Amino acid sequence: MKIKGFLKDVTGASRVTKARLSAFENASAVPEKNDPIADVVAQWHPKKFDVKIVDIRDASPTAKTVRFVRADGQKLPFFYAGQFVVLDFKIGNSIISRPYSLSSAPFEARMENSFAEITVRRSKGDGFIADYVNTELKVGDTLQAMMGCGQFYYEPLRDAKHVVALAGGVGITPFASMAKEIANGTLDFDLTILYGSVASDDIILKDELDALKSDKVHVVHVLSGDEPDWKGERGFLSAELIKKYSAPDTSYFICGPQAMYLYLREELKKLGAPARRVRFEVFGQAKDITKFSGYPVALTNHVFNLTVRRGIHEDVIPAKATESLVVALERAGIRIETACRSGECGFCRTKVLSGSVYVCPENDGRRAADKDFGYVHACAAYPTSDLTIKIPIE
Ligand code: FES
Repeated sequence: MKIKGFLKDVTGASRVTKARLSAFENASAVPEKNDPIADVVAQWHPKKFDVKIVDIRDASPTAKTVRFVRADGQKLPFFYAGQFVVLDFKIGNSIISRPYSLSSAPFEARMENSFAEITVRRSKGDGFIADYVNTELKVGDTLQAMMGCGQFYYEPLRDAKHVVALAGGVGITPFASMAKEIANGTLDFDLTILYGSVASDDIILKDELDALKSDKVHVVHVLSGDEPDWKGERGFLSAELIKKYSAPDTSYFICGPQAMYLYLREELKKLGAPARRVRFEVFGQAKDITKFSGYPVALTNHVFNLTVRRGIHEDVIPAKATESLVVALERAGIRIETACRSGECGFCRTKVLSGSVYVCPENDGRRAADKDFGYVHACAAYPTSDLTIKIPIE
């Protein structure tokens, strides 16, 4: 009986093989130009597409929420709550890319009047694009977008049913997206957001968040500043406070400035949280690379010669020791593909042909093979000598 079944499987497989072989033999040797499936994929999930700004509103006294739609009138591509969009800003002769976590929910992008939103806080003098978004971007402007980036989303096979979100500043945005999706019934887990701010005026998206509170979504504001009338939690997101809101099995999602991540990593160690239960999203590049472990501080004021090869082109540009290779390239008007800008995604993967770089260990998202073969993620690599790199032609 078993042998008969086995023979049937073998003959069945050989029939399939013949059919497939004949399909291969008759197939065109050149890529199909009018492939309807590729057309559908490109339409629903284009790599890059134009978006139009349709609304800009206050998210706090220091932050704006920017709503955009697809410029061609189609629905926006699918994304998971917690993922980010990369927006290309054309400023003067330069195109500058920035990643922003989406503060709107995926279901809002699937609706008939499909839209998405980002929320951006004004910088404290060190964020050119953040200030541009807050002061110069206008309704009707168009930008180029790449959507559905990053790994910072809830995955039921990996994450606990109860998630404590630890947010600082504008790091609230991916959790706002998750909370909206849970409230809509299209995402199912228990979310407790511990949101740290200095002052009540700093709380971003406060009204929207408070309106989402339910038995599935808890929002706890924690103020570190001295505000006598404040009735909620005070202080920092300490181990003690986190424990108060944790269940026996909890996943911890962290989003905020890098300093906050370094601090929270230690607090979660005090709680004995296993590494598989801790996930984080760091915004952008290190603010002060000299503070990171192993950085050669003696080089801080050096400016090196960076030779950039693109096909047959070669340029030599200045590269400051304290700025990433991506910043040096952008400053020189040389475009390099980026997405996360925090060393994680690999979009800016670059071959170092000669010379040396410092790669901050906290942001080293390279694969082992890339390390062996001299590739770096240019957004997380800092020159420590004159060097030559090879980047793809845009
Ligand atoms: S842009 Fe993601 S690793 Fe550099």
